[in-house]
Amino acid sequence: MDVTPSRPEFPRFPPDFVWGVATSAYQVEGAVHADGREPSIWDTFCARPGTIRGGDTGDVACDFYHRFREDIALMRDAGIDAFRFSISWPRILPAGRGHVNLAGLDFYDRLVDELLAAGIQPFPTLYHWDLPQALEDLGGWPERDTALAFAEYAGIVATRLGDRVDHWTTHNEPFCSSWLGYVAGVHAPGRKDRHAGAAAVHHVLLSHGLAVQALRAICPDAELGIVLDSWPIHPATAAAEDIEAARRADGARNRLFFDPVLRGEYPVDVLAWLGSDSPPVLDGDLATISTPVDFIGINNYSRRVVRAGAPGEDPVDVTPSETNQTGIGWEIYPNGLREVITRLHREYGVETIYVTENGAAYPDVRDEDGQVRDANRVAYLEGYLAEVARAIAEGAPVRGYFVWSLLDNFEWAQGYSQRFGIVYVDFETLERVPKSSYYWYGDLIAGSRRGVELVR
Ligand code: FCB
Repeated sequence: MDVTPSRPEFPRFPPDFVWGVATSAYQVEGAVHADGREPSIWDTFCARPGTIRGGDTGDVACDFYHRFREDIALMRDAGIDAFRFSISWPRILPAGRGHVNLAGLDFYDRLVDELLAAGIQPFPTLYHWDLPQALEDLGGWPERDTALAFAEYAGIVATRLGDRVDHWTTHNEPFCSSWLGYVAGVHAPGRKDRHAGAAAVHHVLLSHGLAVQALRAICPDAELGIVLDSWPIHPATAAAEDIEAARRADGARNRLFFDPVLRGEYPVDVLAWLGSDSPPVLDGDLATISTPVDFIGINNYSRRVVRAGAPGEDPVDVTPSETNQTGIGWEIYPNGLREVITRLHREYGVETIYVTENGAAYPDVRDEDGQVRDANRVAYLEGYLAEVARAIAEGAPVRGYFVWSLLDNFEWAQGYSQRFGIVYVDFETLERVPKSSYYWYGDLIAGSRRGVELVR
């Protein structure tokens, strides 16, 4: 790999490094009733009082469904190589299975064509949390049938787009779609049932393996992967009980997903902790879940620091210092990104990694001249990219990096209160205003192509 350090501590990025931005369907598209789409669990969850800050919904979001050409032009002007977006299952199969809505497929067809015409590689994700409500009505992810339905959906999308898409990911952050949705209840569908949640974990992972097999059969030359939520979890002190608390939290949050996908086994300590709630594994499931992939996507924003809870209680999160957190309250901890990259490479043997999400929310405002000057976000991104560069210099196989997000958008339970974009969105007028970070990112990409030192 060509990594020529100009200064030992800040190497250049490889010349073929992929510079991207990321979004997801429900967070940006809006148009929830357009062209035959039926509700997903997020439409239902948002309609339930008290679930989303400010009572916000994704009904309009950034109206990307109608404005994607304008947004692609913004990406092209910044020299962005790749766009990570997700496909809305309820646009393609409004009832989850059965009837295929061609108008839904047509939308992604237009999107992919427009991206390719702008010289931008499409990186679609098949599931970024928007399960068709019709499938939740049948039991949702705790039901094994949902995994089978997902594989059918994957095959339908791949059949339509596979001639033009070279990189696919199946799921975004299975931890969130299973645990936060079915155990913590803070994401759709808002259930609080550990037994159902562990079954959801298993069926989301099983659906990943089945989808990889379906995609492989249809587009054998494409690169296939999964995006895993990867926050390091550190003990608050060196006390044995805090170290044990961190190990347990890491088990539930990280190893419960890394181990089955990458090793074909569930971690025994996590199974012991789940006890009679353990996932309903059938013969052959773990072989399916660990079907080889071509890359792993890592989403990393921060770390968690935990200490032991009261006897028999869960580990307790330590609140980060107020002076070292982003607007959403997450600690700024760039080292953590290198730590998870290195862990997946060295401990799990992953040979190709993309950083599929990294970014920061800040309460951006427009200055009197209309511009948005987000020096804090630029500093955050510089700090994290320096760690990616270091990881590469140490031999980690990182092939690309995607900023979360292109646009300010619907931040799940936080509604529109958290702005993660490098492009500001005025949610009244839907006007787009590139922030300083957008211009900084464009300069960085141009510099990378010229082979100059990137990170100061
Ligand atoms: C990740 C999600 C993404 C966005 C960022 C801030 O966990 O994948 O949709 O909400 O967090």
